[in-house]
Amino acid sequence: MKNHHIIVFLFSFFLIMSLRGFVSCTDQETKVYVVYLGEHNGEKTLEEIEDHHCSFLQSVKGTTTSKEDVRASLVHSYKNVINGFSAVLTPQEVDMISGMEGVVSVFHSDPYEIRPHTTRSWDFVSLLEGTSLLNSREELLQNASYGKDIIVGVMDSGVWPESSSFNDEGMEPVPKSWNGICQEGVAFNASHCNRKLIGARYYLKGTVGGRRVANASAIGGFAKGTATGGAPNVRLAIYKVCWPVPDRSLAEGNACTTDDILAAFDDAIADGVHVLSISLGSRPKSTYYTEDAIAIGSLHAVKKNIVVACSAGNDGPTPSTVENVAPWVITVGASSIDRVFSSPIMLGNGMIVEGQTVTPIRRRRLHPLVYAGDVEIRGTTASNTTGACLPGTLSRNLVRGKVVLCRNSDIQASLEVKRAGGVAAILGNQFNQIQVIPFLNPTTVTFLDGLNTLLTYILTEKHPTATLVPGNTKIGTNSAPVMAPFSSKGPNVVDPNILKPDITAPGFNILAAWSEASSPLNIPEDHRVVKYNIESGTSMSCPHVSAIIALLKSIHPDWSSAAVRSALMTTSTINNVVGRPIRNATGDDANPFEYGSGHFRPSRAVDPGLIYDATYTDYLLYLCSQNISLNSLFSCPEKVPTASNLNYPSLAIANMRGSIRTVTRVVTNVGKDNSTYVLAVRSPPGYAVDIVPKSLCFSKLGEKHSFNITIIRAQSSVERRNEFSFGWYTWSDGVHVVRSPIAVSSSA
Ligand SMILES: *[C@@H]1O[C@H](CO)[C@@H](O)[C@H](O)[C@H]1NC(C)=O
Ligand SMILES: *[C@@H]1O[C@H](CO)[C@@H](O)[C@H](O)[C@H]1NC(C)=O
Ligand SMILES: *[C@@H]1O[C@H](CO)[C@@H](O)[C@H](O)[C@H]1NC(C)=O
Ligand SMILES: *[C@@H]1O[C@H](CO)[C@@H](O)[C@H](O)[C@H]1NC(C)=O
Ligand SMILES: *[C@@H]1O[C@H](CO)[C@@H](O)[C@H](O)[C@H]1NC(C)=O
Ligand SMILES: *[C@@H]1O[C@H](CO)[C@@H](O)[C@H](O)[C@H]1NC(C)=O
Ligand SMILES: *[C@@H]1O[C@H](CO)[C@@H](O)[C@H](O)[C@H]1NC(C)=O
Ligand SMILES: *[C@@H]1O[C@H](CO)[C@@H](O)[C@H](O)[C@H]1NC(C)=O
Repeated sequence: MKNHHIIVFLFSFFLIMSLRGFVSCTDQETKVYVVYLGEHNGEKTLEEIEDHHCSFLQSVKGTTTSKEDVRASLVHSYKNVINGFSAVLTPQEVDMISGMEGVVSVFHSDPYEIRPHTTRSWDFVSLLEGTSLLNSREELLQNASYGKDIIVGVMDSGVWPESSSFNDEGMEPVPKSWNGICQEGVAFNASHCNRKLIGARYYLKGTVGGRRVANASAIGGFAKGTATGGAPNVRLAIYKVCWPVPDRSLAEGNACTTDDILAAFDDAIADGVHVLSISLGSRPKSTYYTEDAIAIGSLHAVKKNIVVACSAGNDGPTPSTVENVAPWVITVGASSIDRVFSSPIMLGNGMIVEGQTVTPIRRRRLHPLVYAGDVEIRGTTASNTTGACLPGTLSRNLVRGKVVLCRNSDIQASLEVKRAGGVAAILGNQFNQIQVIPFLNPTTVTFLDGLNTLLTYILTEKHPTATLVPGNTKIGTNSAPVMAPFSSKGPNVVDPNILKPDITAPGFNILAAWSEASSPLNIPEDHRVVKYNIESGTSMSCPHVSAIIALLKSIHPDWSSAAVRSALMTTSTINNVVGRPIRNATGDDANPFEYGSGHFRPSRAVDPGLIYDATYTDYLLYLCSQNISLNSLFSCPEKVPTASNLNYPSLAIANMRGSIRTVTRVVTNVGKDNSTYVLAVRSPPGYAVDIVPKSLCFSKLGEKHSFNITIIRAQSSVERRNEFSFGWYTWSDGVHVVRSPIAVSSSA
């Protein structure tokens, strides 16, 4: 984090105005901090709340600081639902405030910490239509009146109002319950709101901490077409919390601050959204409540029965990368759909090697084929970078007029081949899933097998030649869905006793509405303007789930947020379209740390049979297990249940000590009167699972039954210390199958 004094002067005028009190009179490093005070205690006017927030500041800044200067140091005052504020503070002031009565936590609002969950790979293929895996979708949509009464709040990097996704033709007037506004913004005016896009708010106050806005006139963001595709009549309200920054290492060059996000939550809850779709995140912290704005904001939302869906993050396939892991949100991973953009490579000997691209390619004659490692400028590569087509490594003389094979599949490799005068690039991908990128020059991507075939061909053929065959879209690949390699994985580092992610949904090579304010690659070399783009990321899978949540809320308005999550999770599948286990991007069977309970199945989620419900109080009780006490109105009991006892639709027990552990679950009948559910169990290897009772009889709807799950460690599992072992159990009445994954690990 840079010293903020210099940066402040780069900022917009009003910020400089509001901060002048500090910048001039102190040399201490000041930053924006969030002071979180939990819930509002009793009824107060907005003015009283702000006074209350200022009183904290006044007491640390001393009586010599005028009231006006104290007020000016406030960045945000959260007044509606969340109690707290953000302010410019010195480290000493932070220490003082942390110790004050009523303060739950104080944390730094770092703009570089929270990033949108998009990845840098898309394409523009407006001729391809969007696809959906949803079966019986039309019927489900009809039953849910196409989601017309449901308002989904999207917390994201923005909105492009001209996009046809926001066409409101034939839509009914905005629901009366809506309290939100359509805020004027740069390049956005209130007339852009309509019956589809019913609200827009912008948050740009939190930038004091060091974020520079690259081009504030280009709103830059985009809204996900899929959110509307899944539930066409759902209403959208956009809370733009992320803004472009010049730092290119950030996904999409956008960043968002904690204090802006909390302000957006505070507004969205008061505005009356029913669902929040959040495609942002930061690396998980050690606890839910010290620094995680999304965890804090969403607990307040869940208390008001708003369902919060969050993207799991794009930091896979590395383990322990899953973000947004609080047990009150729905955490969504990403997987492929049954479509590939095929563009094979034809070799001089007639052989065809599989390749994929969405870059338009014209049919050409065969050209000489070279391996990048053989046409490099001497001294520009080391043994581990040879053949990678890094910028500036290829020799123009050796590359001109040739097809170049690179051992690397990023956009830079393709651009390097273009720079050196190559006619086409073939890029080697280490996974068996290819994330398509809208390359600027003829380029196709092949798998590891293909790369090896091509290398052998180049080695053994005297005059190797190749050409790229123009692409076409193939629907119906029978391995779908496959987990996306970037989809962030468990275990949950905040609390491994809550299994995350929860589910997976389409988020790989998805067609989405695209802002005309930015090119598909979003790099200076790219001047293309497109309406649709191919996108990948958990930021794409999350809106798919949000759309389905809107339908579920429409059909079951009385369901709690936990009930909605349970319905989605227990009805999901761990099998692909041909009934084989869902695989990951290197061809192994995927596990619950990749897909959670499995791939969602919307039409089954409508009628799940049983649900695992949980209330706000259950979450407060769960927080007791994390040594967190959120407000003075709720005190933790003497004997706190373990985290694994939260009534969650999946079961995780981490670092089990001893050889036996029992947890309790409660299910509620939402299927039919007079139904009997029978148990089936697949024990995790190394453990036995004993569930009592083995059948559950419900005479009425709404009836609840509890059961105990006992995990018994086998002697052999001592060898697998700290390693997770997976299994599942199901309850079935012959019509519904209510499935829960199990993940267990043992310590010594
Ligand atoms: C739609 O509603 C009808 C009547 O309640 C029901 O029979 C049908 O199963 C529902 N379809 C879906 C996909 O939920
Ligand atoms: C808002 O949009 C309308 C219609 O596009 C336009 O006529 C008007 O000038 C715009 N106002 C501002 C302040 O940009
Ligand atoms: C900023 O955005 C405006 C309007 O979209 C555009 O004309 C201009 O070129 C952009 N400037 C930079 C530096 O990207
Ligand atoms: C696929 O799963 C295997 C076995 O769990 C694991 O070793 C591998 O890293 C996974 N690959 C990806 C891309 O996630
Ligand atoms: C290549 O090796 C060098 C020296 O061992 C190392 O510093 C560098 O990070 C490696 N680069 C890649 C891309 O692995
Ligand atoms: C909670 O506090 C107890 C006692 O100080 C400690 O043993 C336990 O590890 C803490 N739990 C968590 C999740 O921090
Ligand atoms: C359930 O069983 C009870 C007792 O046998 C019976 O009176 C009732 O009609 C049944 N309800 C339904 C919906 O079948
Ligand atoms: C579950 O275990 C608890 C504690 O041992 C016990 O009180 C309860 O009766 C058990 N419930 C069932 C359904 O067996």
